[in-house]
Amino acid sequence: MKSFSIGLSVRALALASSSFFVFAGSSAIFAATAPSLASAPIVLTGADRRPALSLDGQWASIIDPYFSGLFSFHHEEKANGWFLNRKAQPGDAFPTEYNFATAPKLKVPADWNTQRPSLLYYEGPMWYERDFSYEPKQHTHIFLHIGATNYRSLFWVNGQKVCEHEGGFTSFNCDVTAAVHAGANFVVAAVDNTRLEDGVPGLETDWWNYGGLTRSVSLIEVPETFIDQYDLHLDRGEGSVIEGWVHVMDGRPGSKVEVEIPELGVKASAVTDASGRAAIRFPVDGLVRWSPQTPKLYKVVVRAGMDSINELMGFRTIETRGTEILLNGKPIFLRGISIQGEAPYRTGRANTVQDAETLLGWTKELGANYVRLAHYPHDESMLRTADRMGLLVWSENPVYWALDFDNPKVLAKAEQQLDEEIETSRNHASIILWSMANETPDTEARTKFIETLAARARALDSSRLITAALLVRTDGHTKILDDRLGKALDVVGANEYIGWYEGNPASADVTHWRIDYQKPLIMSEFGAAAKAGLHGGKDQRWTEEFQANVYRHQLSMLNRIPQLRGMSPWILMDFRSPNRPLAGIQDEFNRKGLISDQGRKKLAFFVLQKAYIDKSVGKPQ
Ligand code: GCU
Repeated sequence: MKSFSIGLSVRALALASSSFFVFAGSSAIFAATAPSLASAPIVLTGADRRPALSLDGQWASIIDPYFSGLFSFHHEEKANGWFLNRKAQPGDAFPTEYNFATAPKLKVPADWNTQRPSLLYYEGPMWYERDFSYEPKQHTHIFLHIGATNYRSLFWVNGQKVCEHEGGFTSFNCDVTAAVHAGANFVVAAVDNTRLEDGVPGLETDWWNYGGLTRSVSLIEVPETFIDQYDLHLDRGEGSVIEGWVHVMDGRPGSKVEVEIPELGVKASAVTDASGRAAIRFPVDGLVRWSPQTPKLYKVVVRAGMDSINELMGFRTIETRGTEILLNGKPIFLRGISIQGEAPYRTGRANTVQDAETLLGWTKELGANYVRLAHYPHDESMLRTADRMGLLVWSENPVYWALDFDNPKVLAKAEQQLDEEIETSRNHASIILWSMANETPDTEARTKFIETLAARARALDSSRLITAALLVRTDGHTKILDDRLGKALDVVGANEYIGWYEGNPASADVTHWRIDYQKPLIMSEFGAAAKAGLHGGKDQRWTEEFQANVYRHQLSMLNRIPQLRGMSPWILMDFRSPNRPLAGIQDEFNRKGLISDQGRKKLAFFVLQKAYIDKSVGKPQ
């Protein structure tokens, strides 16, 4: 299949290239045959803080492995595709071979894989349809807000195409103003989770390729002139100065914007420039800085013309000084854990506040102050909960393992996903690290690719630290971290599995570390698998005793690495993976969790908990 891309620069790229529309021929064919109001989706910062009409619930669904709802038998796009939601009429001269009204339902937001046994392994196109009624107001824009869909998706409202998107873990907003009318409406989505050679991520992942409308869907109405993005953060330099900007869409230059923090008695204003951006900077007295000990959140009102957003934000600074990580100017050690976006108990994609509270509640119970959200941006509810609970966050772009690093289209896709991640989540005090990648091969092409992403992330957000999870080399008993990508990072992350994929648990006792960068080091992954409830000797693989033994040896080894400033063992909870077939033990789950997917804590949970609560691992405290 052809590929396509839609980030800012890539939006231009996409519109320029005729092969914009993915699945088949060029958009020309499509445009000629079916009504289209399609425009590139946009980011709306703080979209979850805006009033909205939720479209969550039961949607009609039709599995379409051959995508015959969109393509003819000669693989040309149909003018009368299933996006028309047509109902058969008496006397029709042709058969209508689909009917959303009688089709089975799928829950939204959710992956489809865990909703029906027949869909567990399904990878391909799936159609969704939902009716809704709406009374559009004058002088407004209406956006279809999509929390996330995996992996590629197209949307139609009342039969008119409104947008398409590629990328499984970031939110986007489609302008449906011209398609929605008063009264009864319907929205149709085609979601395809087929893995692509030129996809981001690529063909191989160690997580289940959950497909579907995996995060909340809603309709958001904004005034004709509205705020699409804003960035507010504490200036690193001076005491308490908040700086940033507000961007207004469809406004005239010189339009006034305002930022108010009622609790601090401040109200600051600025005016937009020709690009619609208003830079803003103002001092604040009496600010309580956000930290794990004091996760203070302030109500912040961002206004422009008729539009306003009520945000809930914390303010803190994060920076490095040599091999130190400084939070609010003080050295900090990140006692953490890695988390996949797997829902506890029910399994499938995590996407609710309750999922977040369960996973981050266990993290707090562990005595942790930090989480690595792997390997892709997690649901907004996870970030809101981390803000509230006072957990520091590593957020990651799904540049995972091997990608087609020489392919400019792949770079454009990675850039688009990075843009959406940062532009959507930049105001979360909890996020301190943007991770560019995980376990990518140390090649020239890869390094150039990720250096480009790192530079882009810095340009988008200079208030946070840039990192990546790197592979390490082994020379005898020495582990060497000299991946050339380290040069482009503020903080270097390293993944190692001494005692599991290599050596035995005690091998850690004789392992030395050579880190070729005078930068803070985070051990972003280490661990071992265990089947919850399986007990035996500490040298017996898959038992809880073996896993706990690996942790004990790891913790003492890590304490011997002078520049270690954090860790996020792999992993908090077992999660579904297609690479783990061992019957009776893994059963298609990665069992490196400290807790099973059914909430059963393993011995190693308590080994790590003790080290974190006693603060016996990591310096400074
Ligand atoms: C890798 C990888 C993870 C994977 C883990 C494992 O390091 O980053 O995604 O799940 O190892 O093998 O369990």
